Parts: sequence; structure tokens; C-alpha cells
Amino acid sequence: MGVSHETLDAAGTLPAEAIDAIERAATSAHRHEDLFSERAANIRQSAVRDVFDISMRPGLVSLAGGSPYLQSLPLDRLSATAAKIIAEDGLTALQYGAGQGTEELRTQICEVMAAEGILDARPQNVVITAGSQSAQDVATKLFCNPGDVVLVEDPTYVGALNTFEAYQVQVETVDMDESGLVPELLEARIAALQLAGKNIKFLYTIPNFNNPSGITLAKERRQQVVDICRTANILILEDNPYGLLRYSGEHLVPLRADNPGDVIYMGSFSKIFAPGLRIGWALVPEHLQRRYYLAAESVTLCPPALNQMLVSAYLREYDWRGQIETYRGLYAERCTAMLAALQEHMPAGATWTSPEGGFFVWVTLPEGVDTYPLLHKAIDAGVVFIPGAAFTPSDEPSNKLRLAFSAVPPEAIAEGVRRLAPVLREAIAAL
Ligand SMILES: Cc1ncc(COP(=O)(O)O)c(C=O)c1O
Repeated sequence: MGVSHETLDAAGTLPAEAIDAIERAATSAHRHEDLFSERAANIRQSAVRDVFDISMRPGLVSLAGGSPYLQSLPLDRLSATAAKIIAEDGLTALQYGAGQGTEELRTQICEVMAAEGILDARPQNVVITAGSQSAQDVATKLFCNPGDVVLVEDPTYVGALNTFEAYQVQVETVDMDESGLVPELLEARIAALQLAGKNIKFLYTIPNFNNPSGITLAKERRQQVVDICRTANILILEDNPYGLLRYSGEHLVPLRADNPGDVIYMGSFSKIFAPGLRIGWALVPEHLQRRYYLAAESVTLCPPALNQMLVSAYLREYDWRGQIETYRGLYAERCTAMLAALQEHMPAGATWTSPEGGFFVWVTLPEGVDTYPLLHKAIDAGVVFIPGAAFTPSDEPSNKLRLAFSAVPPEAIAEGVRRLAPVLREAIAAL
């Protein structure tokens, strides 16, 4: 039971019934403690969620959350489209639908993937999910027993780590350099783990503008990574929510493009349209499709029909490619503002990545600095970031931190970095 102001009596003390209710809640919480599964101990709140509420405080500059900037969406037109769907097709939009998602949207998703360079996708191999997050969960549920190994880039997406850990998977990292995963290190890590008798199920990778580092897997490494995994009989989970948000450099085709049998590809409308709709998808190899689809259906029964119909209408009737262009321009400008501010304010000893797309810059401080305790100092200074430790499975302190520029206007980015700099400078000086 929450203690609100209304619960207190005029003297500011708790009435007897309220105390009883609190005691009852505490006792039943204790009684139920033994009922949790072993898995439940591994289910955690992500570090991004930890600071979500703090980030909303007025006056703070939040460089924490990787939210897309939705202000450029045509909201009036979208609301009219949603109203029209309910008025004209409400009995379908509000009804249960097919477990795999609507055929129209699966067909349109193939067009979106074609824009990425996946030209052979077929609607029957697409499974619509509640975002890419849910697609990761389904894959882990389907392939991993407790103790199985999943390989990830170091650093990697905190939400995926939380999913893997919730399934009691052993998460093993492979280092990246400025060109992404290092194939030789991947090969060596697989060999060592297999020699130790480990069951490696898949490599989870974000080849384009990795969250949190902004790093992209170089073109010449892409097939190498797939070949290494294929030889070792390890699946690839390719997570590509940012691929279309490239603002400089050459477009690189996904790993899935030339490797339809080895890669489960995950896409999302969260960053190219709107995350609140919770529509993403998995493109699943033919021989895995049925099992994957059944696992997805047992979680969500069917993806939300109304949201799918709205996304379909958006792809059919709106200039979605133009909207992606708008987003690209916007994020390019913010990325430039972030890099300029870092250049101007960061203390000596700090380095950072220069992404060609996506939402994030990854800052590295000298060895020995732990960025986790710096978060509180930064909040006192009026800025929020995510400490690097959130993005690796180890409990070791991290000298890195993630800065997100997607949701913050350029002037506020500059101000946030200006506020952060003295906190970092002081930590480096204290080494
Ligand atoms: C790499 C990556 N994968 C997946 C997600 C979650 O995407 P969705 O909203 O589609 O579940 C995010 C969100 O930040 C992400 O950065």
C-alpha cells in the first residue's frame, strides 16, 4: 500500500487502519517470497528505467534515455487515421487477430526491409512482435536452457542483457574496436567456450550504430562474422532498429541479406515511427519459422490489431521514407551538437565515439574512474547519463558512459555536456 498525503490524518500521523493495511501487505510480501521462481531473482529493472523518473525533473538535461523525437510526426493526421480505422473497421481493429500479425503489415515490413537491403524476405517468414524487445525474448525462450551461452558485443543493449539474464543464460562478451566486433576475438571466444563444453546458442549483435556505443560493424567484417558462427553452428540474432537512421557514410546491408538460413533478423518501428505502438518484428529462417511463431503466440496471443492497422495505414498513405529523412536530418544535427560540445568541454583523458547514425555517443574515461557514483554528482549538476556498467553483464566498475542525443534539442545538448564536464574532470583529477 502506498502512503499518500490523503492517507495521513490531520495531525500528520497514520490512522490505525492504514497501519494495519501496511502490516498486512508486508506480511503477505514476506509469505510470498518463497513462491518466486529461481528465474525471478535474475529479473531486474534496467539502468535506463532507474533514471527514467529522475530524467523527467524540470531543469535537468537528460542525456540518458534513447527516446526518438516524435515532435516531427503529423499527429493531427495520425489521430484522424486512427479514428477512421475504428469508425470504418472497428470490429477488426478491436478484435483478436492472427498470431503472426496481419498479412498486409507483414507484406509492408518486407518493403521496409528491402530499403535496408534484404531483398528476398517473404511475408510468411515475418512474425510481428511487441517491439524488438519481445522478439529477443521469444528467441531466448525458444533456444536457451538455463546455463546455455549467448554471445554479445561488449558493450550491448541493456534490455537484451536483462532478457538473457532472466532466462538464466550465461552471457559472454566479445570485444569491439572502432569497426565493431573483432572476428578473430569472436572465433577465439567460441573455440574456448566450446572447448570448455559450453552450449553456445546464438550471437546477439547490433551491427548498425550499436546501443550504447554508436559503433557500426565494418562492411568487410560482416560476412566473416556470419561464417564464423555458421561454422560453429551458432545462430545470429541481428537487432537492427537504427539501420535506416544513418546520416553519414555508406549504407551497409544487414547480415541477414545474404544469409537467410543463419540469421534471425529483428526490426522495429520504434525508432523510425513511434515506440508507443510497440510494433516490431522478426524475420525468421524458413526452417525455424513455425517454432518461433508458436513461441511468440504463447506470449502475446496476437499482436495488437489496431496498432498494426495504424502502422499499415502509415506505410500505405504517408510519406514514411520522407519522415525517415526528417529524422535523419534531425539526429545528424543533434549528433553534431553533441560532438562539438564534447570537443569543447571534455577534460583531457576523455575520448568518445563518432557515430554515423543512431542515437548514442560512448565516452571513455581513463582507467580507474568508475562512472556509476558519478551519476549522482551529475544529477546534482543538472544532467543525467547512463553509466557504462549497465551495458555489460559483468559487475565490474566501468570507466565508460552513454550519452543519448536523440530526444534533446542542440542547445540543451551543449548545456548538458557543459554541466557534465566538471564532474568528469574532478573524477579524473582524483585518480
Ligand atoms: C538495440 C535495441 N534493440 C531493441 C530496442 C527496443 O526496441 P523496441 O522498442 O522495438 O522493443 C532498443 C531500444 O532502445 C535498442 O536500442
